[in-house]
Amino acid sequence: MPPKYIVTGVIALVLISADYLCGSVGSVEIPMAHKFCKCFNNTNDIELVKCQCVHSELEKIPNDLPTPLHVLMIAKAAIENLTKDSFKNYKKSLTDISLRDLKNLAYIENGIFDEMDQLLTIVIRTAPNLKVISPTLFNVYLPKLKIL
Ligand SMILES: *[C@@H]1O[C@H](CO)[C@@H](O)[C@H](O)[C@H]1NC(C)=O
Ligand SMILES: *[C@@H]1O[C@H](CO)[C@@H](O)[C@H](O)[C@H]1NC(C)=O
Repeated sequence: MPPKYIVTGVIALVLISADYLCGSVGSVEIPMAHKFCKCFNNTNDIELVKCQCVHSELEKIPNDLPTPLHVLMIAKAAIENLTKDSFKNYKKSLTDISLRDLKNLAYIENGIFDEMDQLLTIVIRTAPNLKVISPTLFNVYLPKLKIL
């Protein structure tokens, strides 16, 4: 296949998944949530709660988001460290984690993804200070995971 088509395909996939993560079609906004986050609940049969937290003052993953939480998107936030506790309230339910434009993110603790049996995707994009990802970070049994 010529590279042009591969690139187009990749862009299409990215757009589809961006739409999936950000879209609010067929869902209703959950009132309250966190001051830096918006959360949505699916209105059709599939149970799906997703939250997007996009704020430059956000310093850690909020621990008071609605549960069970399935899709979490964090972007343009001031988070420096992700520790084992960062996703603690959502470990059993999270299927998709997207971390984008986290210019301060420098450290991800080993074991952070332990016991997240439902995880399908982890996207980490544009984290210029994240220099070292420990080789054992992903050395964990995640039966469903596909790393993008
Ligand atoms: C989402 O919707 C389902 C059914 O429509 C409901 O049972 C559930 O409590 C809602 N979750 C939240 C966090 O609002
Ligand atoms: C992030 O982790 C580093 C190294 O473990 C530590 O020095 C720093 O204080 C932490 N920052 C925050 C905001 O917790």
